[in-house]
Amino acid sequence: MTSTLTATNLTKIIGDKTIVDDVSFELQRGEIFGFLGPNGAGKTTTIRMLVGLIKPTSGNVTICGFDQRHQFEDAMRCVGCIVENPDLYRFMTGRENLEHFARMLRVGSNEIERVADLVSLAHRLEQRVGTYSLGMRQRLGIAQALLGDPKLLILDEPANGLDPAGIREIRELLRRLASEREMSIFISSHLLAEIELTCDRVAIIHKGRILREGTVRELISSRREMELRVDDVARAAAIATDRNLTYRTDTDRIWIAIEEPDTPPVITALVDAGINVFHAQRRTQSLEEMFLEATGGETVD
Ligand SMILES: Nc1ncnc2c1ncn2[C@@H]1O[C@H](COP(=O)(O)OP(=O)(O)O)[C@@H](O)[C@H]1O
Ligand SMILES: [Mg+2]
Repeated sequence: MTSTLTATNLTKIIGDKTIVDDVSFELQRGEIFGFLGPNGAGKTTTIRMLVGLIKPTSGNVTICGFDQRHQFEDAMRCVGCIVENPDLYRFMTGRENLEHFARMLRVGSNEIERVADLVSLAHRLEQRVGTYSLGMRQRLGIAQALLGDPKLLILDEPANGLDPAGIREIRELLRRLASEREMSIFISSHLLAEIELTCDRVAIIHKGRILREGTVRELISSRREMELRVDDVARAAAIATDRNLTYRTDTDRIWIAIEEPDTPPVITALVDAGINVFHAQRRTQSLEEMFLEATGGETVD
């Protein structure tokens, strides 16, 4: 199976700053891929390289089997994209905006009804974009990106500035496009909950590098841990270290990255060392905790 989008070792250096550092990923048909990272992580810069707005310092992009550099037009015919904010004319109606972009893309005006329907804006098409809510403008932007029926949709922070209802509308729309039309969708976001709810797979990007990548489920289930409340966290940590176990601690608890069946020998070792164990419980690290740990606690929404 050929993938819809492949980025291989993408790097962007501007001046002496490495903004995107050896980033690789792949999107399959019908898959929603989340590119999660705090502000300044390099998300928009990566997207600009994906769609040819800037040249990578090194690395390659393939879209629907076309090399983005050498077969640019073929590659771009497969992509609908919004980088940062949708480019819309507020003094024009929704329909006029879509007609304008349809002309540029040389797609028929019957496409306008289709994409307006997809984003549930058909009833507001005759109104000026200046009267639209942010959520409606975001949807019109997506409608514009959907002109020409692209196989790949690339959206830069589509949930930005939307209220929860607006975010949900966009999420449902994207899930529908992926499942019913087998569209591949790449979304960047600094909103963790949004990525967790919308995406099948996620890459966590921080300071230009991908720190983790996998299905949302995989990432979460790979982070099973046991929580133990003990009266001597420092010595418990030393025992975990002796056993080559990954752990984190706070004042009276230690979280050790082991499965439940592997826990009794650890508890025995703690008790043998004279440490009291008051409580043991299995838990799964949330994507948020994982994200905070991976990015060194950088704040995200
Ligand atoms: N043209 C540029 N020249 C210098 N620095 C840039 C340029 N574009 C982006 N950057 C820097 O690269 C980093 C990543 O930016 P960006 O890709 O916009 O991040 P994100 O979209 O994840 O918030 C930021 O620190 C930004 O200031
Ligand atoms: Mg950005």
